[in-house]
Amino acid sequence: MDDKNNKPIPLTESEAAEIRAAASHYPDPSAASIEALKIVQKHRRWVSDNNLQAVAELLGLSAAELDGIATFYNLIYRKPVGEKVIHYCDSVSCWMLGAERIREHISKRLGIGLGETTADGRFTLLPIVCLGACDRAPAMMIGDELYGDLDEASVDAILTREDRHG
Ligand code: FES
Repeated sequence: MDDKNNKPIPLTESEAAEIRAAASHYPDPSAASIEALKIVQKHRRWVSDNNLQAVAELLGLSAAELDGIATFYNLIYRKPVGEKVIHYCDSVSCWMLGAERIREHISKRLGIGLGETTADGRFTLLPIVCLGACDRAPAMMIGDELYGDLDEASVDAILTREDRHG
């Protein structure tokens, strides 16, 4: 569900129910924060300020507190993103093995820079810290899928496949 006309709508009943159910598994509300934000993101792709406020109220936290937690978690998006987010690894092992060349290739192929979304809304390109796949550097993640040992040809094949599916 997308927010229309820059007017984010509050949580739906089913989102609120999912968040309450998830929170019941945690000893305190702040421990459930990321899980709750992920639920919103699953339904809306990203977490607007109004959505964050609604989640904070539901969990009995302040919006500032919840925003602080969200900021430290790279996989919570606080700005609109495309259908698929490409997380390009921006850490040392990947730098040493050509990550910048790969990033440039992705940017050229999709016509977007870091933090931007393709005109068709399909892909967003974002940097991320070490993906824990340094032995397969350079690496990137799209959705839950981790891709390593990247070169220009494998990136082309991956982007073509990702564009066709889902
Ligand atoms: S530095 Fe890129 S996966 Fe570790």
